[in-house]
Amino acid sequence: MKIQLIINGYKKELEVRPDEYLLDTLRNYNYLSVKRGCDSSSCGVCTVLLDGSPIASCSYLSIKASGHEITTAEGIQKEAAQISTYFGNEGADQCGFCNPALALTVYAMKRELSNPTDEEIRDYLVGNLCRCSGYVGQQRAIRAYLEDTL
Ligand code: FES
Ligand code: FES
Repeated sequence: MKIQLIINGYKKELEVRPDEYLLDTLRNYNYLSVKRGCDSSSCGVCTVLLDGSPIASCSYLSIKASGHEITTAEGIQKEAAQISTYFGNEGADQCGFCNPALALTVYAMKRELSNPTDEEIRDYLVGNLCRCSGYVGQQRAIRAYLEDTL
């Protein structure tokens, strides 16, 4: 069956199976920044933005996304590169597998929350796990990024 989406600002008509999840659809169509980790809504590496809000694409049916706007890291390359620089500066960038999802979540948080506290930042990022870092460097990086770019 066909679904219509707006992906990174472009109208797309994609062929999907009725039981297909958005993670598989996006990767099938070469949006390879969207990663597969746990495949069970726990790790957050498959995060994309649906109408601007983060969702786990591994547990979101593609047909349910029809008619909506999807953003992947490919669609925010400038911002993702900028956010990654802050992670690198704070030593929070190691294997990088979690980076695209984290950059998308930080991007969405910046648009949704004005001047968030450290606790609000931690709450917003609760679905984004990182197997390498201890989160302290990430927190410093996000705080510095928000302060410098508000
Ligand atoms: S792969 Fe989707 S939450 Fe882990
Ligand atoms: S840097 Fe390796 S999973 Fe986050």
